[in-house]
Amino acid sequence: MKNKIITIDGPSGTGKSTVAKEVAKKLGFCYLDTGALYRGAALAIDLKGSNIDDDSRCREILSSTTIKLIKDKIFVNGKDVSSEIRSPRISNLASRIAVHSSVREYLVEIQRSSSLSCSVVAEGRDTGSVVFPNADVKIYLDASLNERARRRHKELISKGINIGFDQVLEEIQERDHRDKTRGVAPLVVSENAIVVNTTQMSIKEVISRVLKIIKDNLAFASWDDGILE
Ligand code: DC
Repeated sequence: MKNKIITIDGPSGTGKSTVAKEVAKKLGFCYLDTGALYRGAALAIDLKGSNIDDDSRCREILSSTTIKLIKDKIFVNGKDVSSEIRSPRISNLASRIAVHSSVREYLVEIQRSSSLSCSVVAEGRDTGSVVFPNADVKIYLDASLNERARRRHKELISKGINIGFDQVLEEIQERDHRDKTRGVAPLVVSENAIVVNTTQMSIKEVISRVLKIIKDNLAFASWDDGILE
C-alpha cells in the first residue's frame, strides 16, 4: 500500500506541533516537524558566526553539516539540539534563512526522503503547497494573532524563558509577515486545504477535529473509530 501523507500548515502558535505529533501517534504514522529542520539549520549557521542573510554562505555551511530528524528529536552534527532550537533567537533566525531558495531546496529534499519509508503527518509552512503537493489530506490551522501570542508566551515562560507578552506578539507578527511575503514558498492556504480556526478551541478539540477531517477524507482501510476518542 502506498504511504499516506497528511500535511498541517499554518503560522506559529496555532497548535500545529502538538496536534501533528498526537495525530501521527494515533494513526501510527511518522511525524515530520519541518520547522525543526529550519531551526537546526539556523543554529548550525549561527554557530559559525556567519551572515544569516547571505544565501550562498548559508548553503555552503549546510553542505558540511548533518541535520537529522529522529522521531521528534533533531540532531545537528550528531548533537541533540531539540531544546536549543526553541529559543526566540533561533525562531527569528530560522524564519530569516527560510527566505533563501538554496536553503529551502536542500531542506525540502530531506523532508521528501522521510516520506519514503513510512506514512507521514508533516507540519510547517509549505508542506501542502510545495513539499507534498499531492498529499492525501491537507489541513491549515489558523488563530488570531493575540491568541497565538498568548499561547507562545505561556510556552516560553513554562520553559523558563523570561520574555514579555508584547515582545512575543511583536516577534510573531514580524515572523508571520516574513513567512507570508517571501518570494519562495510563502505561507499560503494551499489548494484543497481544509482551514480550521483554533482561536476558541482547546488542543483536545483541535486534535478531534483534525482526526475527523482525516477520517472523512482519507481512504484508510484500517480505520478504527477508537482513534477518535
Ligand atoms: O514551525 P516553526 O515555528 O518551528 O518554524 C520556524 C521557521 O521556519 C518559520 O518561521 C519559517 C520556517 N519554516 C518554513 O519556512 N517552512 C516550513 N515548512 C517550516 C518552517
